[in-house]
Amino acid sequence: MSRVVVTGRIPEAALDRLRAEHDVDAWTGTESISREELLARVAGAEAIVSLLTERIDDELLDAAGPQLKVVSNVAVGYDNIDVPACTGRGITATNTPGVLTEATADIAFGLILMATRRLGEGERLIRAGQSWKWGMFFLLGSSLQGKTLGVVGMGGIGQATARRAKAFGMEIVYQSRSEIDPAIAAELGARRVELDELLAVSDVVSLHCPYGPATHHLIGPEELAAMKDTAYLVNTARGPIIDEAALATALRTGVIAGAGLDVFEKEPQVYPELLELENVVLVPHLGSATVETRTAMAVLAAENTLAVLRGEQPPTPIVK
Ligand code: DGY
Repeated sequence: MSRVVVTGRIPEAALDRLRAEHDVDAWTGTESISREELLARVAGAEAIVSLLTERIDDELLDAAGPQLKVVSNVAVGYDNIDVPACTGRGITATNTPGVLTEATADIAFGLILMATRRLGEGERLIRAGQSWKWGMFFLLGSSLQGKTLGVVGMGGIGQATARRAKAFGMEIVYQSRSEIDPAIAAELGARRVELDELLAVSDVVSLHCPYGPATHHLIGPEELAAMKDTAYLVNTARGPIIDEAALATALRTGVIAGAGLDVFEKEPQVYPELLELENVVLVPHLGSATVETRTAMAVLAAENTLAVLRGEQPPTPIVK
């Protein structure tokens, strides 16, 4: 039996699998585990099942000790993990791609609808008890039919968002490190373009790229200025891909029409000016937040952990 440390609350289905083979020490607090507590708990662990709120770096790997074999992130994004630090010590790092694709695309498209149709504004107005009645020019938004969606990062979630956009009658352009499967591109009618063209032609820009040094503030003042002043920006990937201060200025001054954010630069803090603006929809990192999806993510993380501890290849290692 190996010692497996789980850094936060995860669904029982995943804990049951881990407990069937190993000695599991799972954090059960409703608040995130403190750094001090985490550093103390990982000592002697052969596996760490981590949440995206925990930083897995040299300090933590040192605290765990040389017997540590695997870090299994319960997330597709792994910017919380220093992957080279893991691989340099022979520790396998894994993530959970695939199982949260549809749920996250749902939230991306939900934000697109909320921003373009001003649903947040309408909801706030009613809840604030303001008087209103149907009016020809009351809370007019922007139609999606015939408009262009620009997808930045055309992996699984980008493609799933594009599928939804196609069903709403949108044209698709995308920017990605590589061409996607030609059959999928043909089915979506999706055209690969450079970022500057994408920003110039899109009515909605949706971000789906991973976060790292190459994508830090990928969308800043110049990129926002390159967008149409009628366009919307949606982010369900990672907050620091957008320069939030620049976005707030762009939204306030009409450089772009609106935005929808599920993730934030200094999560869980939100750049204060964004809270004052009507033309941005703000939701608290809900991309994968369905019972089914979170269960599938945790079970996949458990399977990754069990595989490495058995000396087998894990289903979804992080390949950089
Ligand atoms: C992920 O898996 O990276 C998501 O952000 C979690 O919701």
